[in-house]
Formats: sequence, C-alpha cells, structure tokens
Amino acid sequence: MRRNCVADTQVGDKLIRAGDKVVMWYVSGNRDESHFEDADRLIIDRPNARSHVSFGYGIHRCMGNRLGEMQLRILWEELLARFHCVEVVEEPTRICSNFVKGYASMPVILHPH
Ligand code: HEM
Repeated sequence: MRRNCVADTQVGDKLIRAGDKVVMWYVSGNRDESHFEDADRLIIDRPNARSHVSFGYGIHRCMGNRLGEMQLRILWEELLARFHCVEVVEEPTRICSNFVKGYASMPVILHPH
C-alpha cells in the first residue's frame, strides 16, 4: 500500500517531496492514540469503532469490504451455531510481514454445545 507523492507536501514536521514514495501503515492507524482511546486494546463496542482504517481510506478504500465483512459474519454465525466456546490453548505466533498482521499458528479447542 504505497503512493507516489505528486506535489511537495508537509505532513506534521515532515516535508514529503514530489516523486517520493510513501508507504501507509493502516495497522498503525488503527492504533493511533490521538484518535482511539486505549488504542492497543480490542474493544469492539468502542463508540468510534467504525472509523477504523482496516479497509483503507479515500479513493482506494477496499472495494470488497462488504464482502469481507459478510464472510466474517457468516464464519462466526456458523461457528457459534456449533460451538459455545473457542479456547486458545497456546500462545499464537505471528508471521513476519510489514504488510499483513497475520498469524502463523493459533492452536484452539472448539467446545461443542
Ligand atoms: C477482511 C478482508 C479485507 C481486508 C482487511 C481488505 C483490506 C483492504 C485495504 C486496506 C485496501 C486499501 C489498499 C490501499 O489503500 O492501497 C483494500 C483495497 C482493495 N480491496 Fe480489499 N480487503 C479485504 C477484502 C477484499 C475482498 C473480499 C475483495 C474483493 C472481492 C477486495 C478487493 C479490494 C480491491 C479491488 C481494492 C483496491 C481498491 C482501489 O485501489 O481502488 N478486498 N483492501
């Protein structure tokens, strides 16, 4: 997720010159303490939860965001219909990536109803 700067632009105390390449860190944006209180905690019912930038922002905002949300909703509907609890049994490990904050492994036990 990178842009090419087309005109000299001041962002805070940084001057970004025309032609510079700029990388966006949406994951970091979701943890912006100046916007989200206690930003490192997952609080799904925080009042401004919908202003997250997980799907980007502006003209490049994700075109599949509604599909992505629907897939996740169906996943949880189907899981919760079968299991009353998903127990994480080992510390999850992350992939090494500057692009996706992904998981390499997260062993769980699914407890049926
Ligand atoms: C949870 C799932 C998803 C996440 C977190 C996600 C995230 C993102 C983000 C952050 C961007 C912005 C990229 C940028 O600023 O350069 C983006 C763009 C885009 N996404 Fe997704 N996405 C998801 C699912 C999908 C799906 C399911 C589709 C299509 C079926 C899709 C299609 C696109 C397209 C076409 C763009 C480019 C839009 C543009 O540059 O005009 N995404 N996505």
